[in-house]
Amino acid sequence: MEVAKTTESVRALVKTARGQGKRIGFVPTMGALHIGHVSLIEAAKQHANFVVVSIFVNPTQFGVGEDFEKYPRPIEHDLEICREQGVDLVFAPTPAEMYPGENFTWVTVEKLTEPLCGQFRPGHFRGVATVCAKLFNIVQPDAAFFGQKDAQQAVVIKRMVADLNMPLEIVVCPTVREPDGLAMSSRNQYLSPSRRKDAAYIYKSLQKCRQMIDAGITDTGKIIAEMRKILSQVPAIKIEYVSIVDAETLQSVDRIAGKVLAAVAVRLGPARLIDNILMDAKKK
Ligand code: PAF
Repeated sequence: MEVAKTTESVRALVKTARGQGKRIGFVPTMGALHIGHVSLIEAAKQHANFVVVSIFVNPTQFGVGEDFEKYPRPIEHDLEICREQGVDLVFAPTPAEMYPGENFTWVTVEKLTEPLCGQFRPGHFRGVATVCAKLFNIVQPDAAFFGQKDAQQAVVIKRMVADLNMPLEIVVCPTVREPDGLAMSSRNQYLSPSRRKDAAYIYKSLQKCRQMIDAGITDTGKIIAEMRKILSQVPAIKIEYVSIVDAETLQSVDRIAGKVLAAVAVRLGPARLIDNILMDAKKK
């Protein structure tokens, strides 16, 4: 496995792989890798025969007062996981390599970035879209792999790629969960043992949503009220939002019809946690 720190070296290594007729699969990450990331690497290996993982805690997607400084950076452990998973190339740039001076050019995906997390993390998706555009230009992959856990991010990146005619496929992979349903996240390690137990209520609320939709309830107001009731059983959970939106436009829906995304964001102790489920009411 090669570890590259510069754009120049990534380009050279990818060029060689392409010259050998290889298809490039790319998994962008901020490190602190867990089995959710491993599932993305596995998916990349199925689609491609040269897999690149980037490890970069992107400062431009963190707001003031967010966890940029304390975000875990266990680089040696991350490299070990990549090696074990048979990754071909890790790109681990410094902030100065990615942003050598003041950045004048930003990618703003409109509308899709306004609801859900966009209301609570102004500028976050501009930072994500910009760094992904830069990483796609550096790595030039045939396909890039994102987790469904960050559903809004996946929708935003897909739209950016379509709107800007970027020549790659975006593959969204299922959320990987702990046995009690908690979605895998690098931020789960911020949770104390008791907060960790509380966190299971996030998925419980999403399961309630699924049960209600399966039972034919279409009034999203009713469903959201029940989901909130479940989350409210845990005093430590501070709800940011509980929303049911159209899975493509991310606009709230009053009635369930077609493909919807039920999404939750909460603060739990020092962690901000998000999760979601996709449901297709027509496919029941
Ligand atoms: O999902 C993440 O880890 C990040 O938002 C990403 C896509 C690596 C961009 O920094």
